[in-house]
Amino acid sequence: MFNIDHPDSAPDSDDRDGDVAMHRQGSFFGRRKGHKLRAHQADLIEHLLPHLSLRIDGPAPDSLTTLFDSAVELVRLEIGFGGGEHLLAEALAHPNTGFIGAEPYVNGMAKILARIEAENIGNIRLFAGDASELLAWVPAGSLARIDLIHPDPWPKRRHWKRRFVQDATVSAMARALAPHGEFRFVSDIDGYNAWTLAHLLRAPGFDWLAERADDWRKPWPNYTMTRYGRKAEREGRRANYLRFERL
Ligand SMILES: C[S@@+](CC[C@H](N)C(=O)[O-])C[C@H]1O[C@@H](n2cnc3c(N)ncnc32)[C@H](O)[C@@H]1O
Repeated sequence: MFNIDHPDSAPDSDDRDGDVAMHRQGSFFGRRKGHKLRAHQADLIEHLLPHLSLRIDGPAPDSLTTLFDSAVELVRLEIGFGGGEHLLAEALAHPNTGFIGAEPYVNGMAKILARIEAENIGNIRLFAGDASELLAWVPAGSLARIDLIHPDPWPKRRHWKRRFVQDATVSAMARALAPHGEFRFVSDIDGYNAWTLAHLLRAPGFDWLAERADDWRKPWPNYTMTRYGRKAEREGRRANYLRFERL
């Protein structure tokens, strides 16, 4: 599951150059491990994660709703949930929706497991790896919404190919989303916002939902700010909030 042997540090380091301590595994580029886990966190990874973790080495069920202990009507995916602030808030606010969180970063996984355990949350399942593998596994039209919030920006031109948003992942999301499902994207990096807009506008099957500037300059109602969102605000960068509908 996790490769925890990397000599690496937390993924929120400002060094996103990626040449040192960055590893490619499939289409994931990044750090899988930061500071050492505390004993209880390690215990959660060892004992709770296997119960909540999706196994994608076999076929997916016909309906993803069957993956959840509690009865859910819809299933949503959050890619790269980091510390899990947004994912947890959404899961608590929407108990009849199932949430899948994909995050290869072991410390983020440990953090969310602690909250799931403490609050006995039944509508979150986890995937400790590259979300593009998960997207390839889920049945067509099975997701009501996909959120990608402050993805690693890879600002240098030679690293753009590492960005999560690529023609291939956009087409994988188009396959996975149900009609009228949504892809929501948040970034404080202007170049990545423009990149995502360009990719989604040229992709068949998506419609950008913005009608006025405030639709993309302001978060949508009840949006939960994440750690990276707060960091951007502290550093004077304003995020954009892009919503695309699957036609
Ligand atoms: C900049 S952090 C943002 C975390 C969180 N969304 C936030 O806003 O605070 C990006 C996260 O995406 C994760 N990530 C990068 N590539 C990924 C991939 N292919 N699949 C799933 N998660 C990925 C990283 O491990 C990292 O935790």
